[in-house]
Amino acid sequence: MAHASGHLAFHDLLPPQQSMLDEVWAGLSKPQKELSPKLFYDARGCELFEAICGLPEYYPTRTEVSIMRAHAPAMARLLGRDCALIEIGCGNSDKTRALLAELEPDVFVAVDIAREQLEASCRVIAKAFPQMQVVALRADFAHAFELPRADLGSGRRVLYFPGSTIGNFTPAEAREFLARWAPLLGAGGAALIGVDLKKDPAILNAAYNDAQGVTAEFNLNVLRHINAELGANFDLAGFRHDARYVEATGRIEMHLVSLKAQRVALAGRMLEFRPGETIHTENSCKYEIAEFQALGKAAGFEARACWTDDDRLFSVHYFSLP
Ligand code: AVJ
Repeated sequence: MAHASGHLAFHDLLPPQQSMLDEVWAGLSKPQKELSPKLFYDARGCELFEAICGLPEYYPTRTEVSIMRAHAPAMARLLGRDCALIEIGCGNSDKTRALLAELEPDVFVAVDIAREQLEASCRVIAKAFPQMQVVALRADFAHAFELPRADLGSGRRVLYFPGSTIGNFTPAEAREFLARWAPLLGAGGAALIGVDLKKDPAILNAAYNDAQGVTAEFNLNVLRHINAELGANFDLAGFRHDARYVEATGRIEMHLVSLKAQRVALAGRMLEFRPGETIHTENSCKYEIAEFQALGKAAGFEARACWTDDDRLFSVHYFSLP
């Protein structure tokens, strides 16, 4: 189904703004205040994340790109050409390009919450691969959404979830996420998932506390986003970035720490902060290879292959469904 102008489709499945407000309010009303990491990604947040990907301390992106470049031919052989590749959380497209160039799937579906970034990267990809049907799907992938079945064709369905974005889920949430995808992919379906590995905590802590302070700005940007989108009045100077590796749970936790007692107005309501009180803004879970394979099995997948870099910093897993 390749036609010159009609091979790029766009669907917006994002729920209305009210549900964003409800979710933000619910998170900030908990004893441990929390915000979903998806709120990082307004246009500014996407720019800041791109900047993070190029930081010397932030090894995941360049390591995953190198794994994809080295092993894309082997991955393409396992996935097979006649497929619909469904990418979740598109972000930096270098990894995808390496895979698409080898795989040349019939259909490529990109799912992301950030509209501008999603549209821009799909336009670039559609231009580079004129024979491929490209579907841009704006959706919150943390919740269930409808796949545009008509666009998917009849080939094998493959979920591509790069960037260790799956680390934003706890292991239980990640298992539920994969279990929810299994029936959508169907018998014979597959998943290719980028997963950050457990390692020396000093390397992890440095990656989330860069010397230039870009990660701190990225973290604080969530408050700017909420101010702009929901008319809140967070004072960004009243909070500081905190990120640390928690051994017990095997994850980086990012928080915003209130520097003083303060009140913040959000959609006509008041939020109170004690000095030192935090908003938990992100989990970034790290796995041993076997640990993530067991998680996939618990979700109904078979662990078929795994690629890593020489330093064992990052992994890309190939799972299939019986
Ligand atoms: C895009 C979720 C994989 O967890 O490493 C980078 C986001 N947060 N620096 C990560 C992030 C702080 C990133 N993910």
